[in-house]
Amino acid sequence: MQMTDLIIKKRDGAELSAEEIQFMIDGYVKGVIPDYQMSAMCMAIYLRGMNDRETLDLTMAMVNSGEIVDLSAIAGVKADKHSTGGVGDKTSLILCPMVAACGLRIAKMSGRGLGHTGGTLDKLESFSGYNIAIGEQRFIENVNRIGIALIGQTADIVPADKKLYALRDVTGTVPSIPLIVSSIMSKKLASGADVIVLDVKCGSGAFMKDEAQARELARGLTRIGRLAGKKCAAVITDMDQPLGRMVGNALEVKEAISVLKGETRGDLLELCLTLGSCILTEAGTAPDADTARAMLLRTIEDGAALRKLAELVAAQDGDAEAVYDTSRLPLAPVQTEVISEEAGFLSHMDCEKVGLISMHLGGGRATKESEIDLSVGLVLHKKIGDRVEQGESLATIHAATKEKAKEAAALLRDCCTFSAEPVERPAFIKAIIT
Ligand code: URA
Repeated sequence: MQMTDLIIKKRDGAELSAEEIQFMIDGYVKGVIPDYQMSAMCMAIYLRGMNDRETLDLTMAMVNSGEIVDLSAIAGVKADKHSTGGVGDKTSLILCPMVAACGLRIAKMSGRGLGHTGGTLDKLESFSGYNIAIGEQRFIENVNRIGIALIGQTADIVPADKKLYALRDVTGTVPSIPLIVSSIMSKKLASGADVIVLDVKCGSGAFMKDEAQARELARGLTRIGRLAGKKCAAVITDMDQPLGRMVGNALEVKEAISVLKGETRGDLLELCLTLGSCILTEAGTAPDADTARAMLLRTIEDGAALRKLAELVAAQDGDAEAVYDTSRLPLAPVQTEVISEEAGFLSHMDCEKVGLISMHLGGGRATKESEIDLSVGLVLHKKIGDRVEQGESLATIHAATKEKAKEAAALLRDCCTFSAEPVERPAFIKAIIT
C-alpha cells in the first residue's frame, strides 16, 4: 500500500477502506508517513469529506494508537461529559457531583485551559491542595467509594490525535467535521465511559461560530459514539456570551458552589439539568427527561450534590472546607468596576475577547507552559438583553494590579455593543440531539 495512492483516492472523492485508514494512521504515528503526505490527506478529507463508516474507522484507528483506559474495576454505569470549549464554562463542577449524587459513576479525566477557554483542572486547583494526579489505583478506589474522581490525563491516550491536531492547526484543516469528530470521539472512547454527553458550543466564543455547523458536528459526534457502542447524546448551546456570570478559575468555582447551594439559577443551572437529564436517561437511571430533571434538582435541594463536591475535594487532598466557606478560595487583591459610558440594551458581547481578557489578566494560558493566577477574572453584571444606564457597572474586574484592572476594564467596554431598542435574549439551549 502506498500513501500517495490513498491521497489520490480521497482527492478524487472515493471511499477509503478500514485497512487503508489503519495503514495511514499507523504509518503516521510511527513517523513512516511524513507530515507533507498527511497534510495532503487532511486537505483531501477536508474537501471531500468522509462517510460514517470511514469516520468510525478513522476514530477507532486513532483510539488504538495509544492506551485505552480500563474502567472495568468500577462497578456501575460510568458517565462522561465533553464540552467543545467555552468561556465561563464551569459546568463539570456542578454536573459531575449532581450526576454522582444520583448514583452514576464519574471517572473523569479533564484538561487544562488553553487560549480563551478555561479547563476544569485549573478550576479544581483553586481548592488548596487539590491533587489532580492521585494515580490510577486511588482514582478507581475513589470512584468505587464515593462515585466520583476528577483527575488529569494519566494514560498516553490517542497519540495519533496529538500529532494530527498539531498538523491540522498549521494546514488550515481543523474545521473538517470527520476530522473533528474522530479527534474528539477517539479521546472520549479511549477514556472508557459507557455514557457520553457532548456539549457543542456555538457562537462568538466557540470553536463553531455557526449553528448549522454546530448541528452537523453534534450529529456526527453522536452517530460515531453510538456506532462505537456507547450511549451518546449532544446538546447545542449558546456561546455568544459567557456561561453564567463569572469568568476566571476561583471565581467560577464560587459560581458553581452557589448553583449547588441553590442560590443561583439561570442558564448555568439549565445547562446542567439538560446535560444531566441526557446522561440519566441514556444510562437508564431515569425513564424520561422530566423524571431525570426532578432527580437532579433534588440533589441541589437536599444538599447531596454540594456534599458530593466536598467529598470529591477531600478525597483528592483538597481543602473541602472551602466548599462551605468560599472566603477560603483565592481572591485577587484588586477589584475594579467597569462603568458603562453608554445607555441602552446590551445587544452583543464579543465572547472570545471576554475569554482573552481573563487570559491576559493571568487567568488563562497563552502556551501550555504558562503559569496561571487562579484568583483573577471578571464578574459580569449585565448580559445580552439587559438594560444598562450610563454610569452603571457592566462588570467587576478581579486583577493582580490596578494597571491590569484598568486595561481589562477598557477592553471589556470594547466587547459590548448597545442598542436603543430592546433586544431579545438569545435562546440558550439551541437543540438536544438524542
Ligand atoms: N477539539 C478537539 O479535541 N479536536 C478537534 O479537532 C477540534 C476541537
